Amino acid sequence: MEQQVFIFDTTLRDGEQVPGCNLNTKEKLALALKLEELGVDIIEAGFPISSPGDFESVEAIAKAVKNATVCGLSRAVQKDIEVAAAALKSAKRPRIHTGIGTSDYHIKAKFNATREEILSRAVQAVKWAKNFVDDVEFYAEDAGRTDNDYLARVVEAVIRAGATVVNIPDTTGYCLPQQYGDKMAYLINNVPNIDKAILSCHCHNDLGLATANSIQGVIAGARQIECTINGLGERAGNTSLEEVVMVLKQHKHLGLYTNINTKLLNPLSREVSDTMRVPVQLNKAIVGANAFSHSSGIHQDGFLKDSQTYEIIDPEEVGAEGSKIVLTARSGRSALAHRFQKIGYSFNRNDIDVLYESFLQVADRKKEVEEDDLHMLAKAYQAEPAIA
Ligand code: KIV
Ligand code: ZN
Repeated sequence: MEQQVFIFDTTLRDGEQVPGCNLNTKEKLALALKLEELGVDIIEAGFPISSPGDFESVEAIAKAVKNATVCGLSRAVQKDIEVAAAALKSAKRPRIHTGIGTSDYHIKAKFNATREEILSRAVQAVKWAKNFVDDVEFYAEDAGRTDNDYLARVVEAVIRAGATVVNIPDTTGYCLPQQYGDKMAYLINNVPNIDKAILSCHCHNDLGLATANSIQGVIAGARQIECTINGLGERAGNTSLEEVVMVLKQHKHLGLYTNINTKLLNPLSREVSDTMRVPVQLNKAIVGANAFSHSSGIHQDGFLKDSQTYEIIDPEEVGAEGSKIVLTARSGRSALAHRFQKIGYSFNRNDIDVLYESFLQVADRKKEVEEDDLHMLAKAYQAEPAIA
């Protein structure tokens, strides 16, 4: 039977940490409602103690969101947890996300503490959060570089303290997919009470592996992925929501599904990009402007015969405008004929042979041959077919 992977969206928290992208309450609320419409299971609305503005945003989102769980971040600090609880007061499904660094880098450099002290602080934080909400997620920051034996002890202890979800962040984007999957498998095999909580993947993209690591994590048994629209987030960003959702949808043999309405992926990607003022890179998977563009002659010819030769996703399925046949100096005759036909000219093969030569001259001068150029070529040819 297929199993659900819960989608935990952190666009409004980790995503919003991109320099220059911070959002006001109105903007955050509008995006939260769109995320709910998209079908995300959990919305991480912010870090309430970080500023009065963020408190207000989390509070407003908690009031407005009806179906999704609304989550607030905190450190493993009593005051943080209390403030998060206050911001989430009106939420139908509130979750406090608390945690602490567990790698030796964090334990020594950040906290000047011992492993035992950090373990005890982790347990205290979860117990404190349980006084306010039932649903408590614990994050073991820098779990990607945390010793597995120690990590297993922390995970067991926080679950005993009441954590419902345990987040295993690869905070620095260091892990290889195999390592990250093995870490999840290690926890599943070595934490006696692991069946009492959901394991969560939270991967950063410093080595471009965030999507691969998250997928490896769920293959190994995690059942939640933390991700952001357009992969926005600290430094090189977080796991991109649209990518993990479509990987699971494409690879049905994994037996995993999400509740995301994939037709809304492209419209929401554009809205997040506009609101946060961060353009989406052209070649971004699923939502980039070129994700469904074909420009080389060989690809165009194959695509025009059967779209599946060069497209694994129907653009409609992800709410994209549609496939595009782009005309450049690398394009071929079938693409040229296709584009002429689309704007109302029906040229035969001989016409296209002649037109193709003049097309190449224009294409070598311009990066892309546009509709106006095609009209110009067609008119010239119709006026004097021999020397178009
Ligand atoms: O990357 C990270 O470790 C985080 C935690 C705060 C969950 O964002
Ligand atoms: Zn993060």
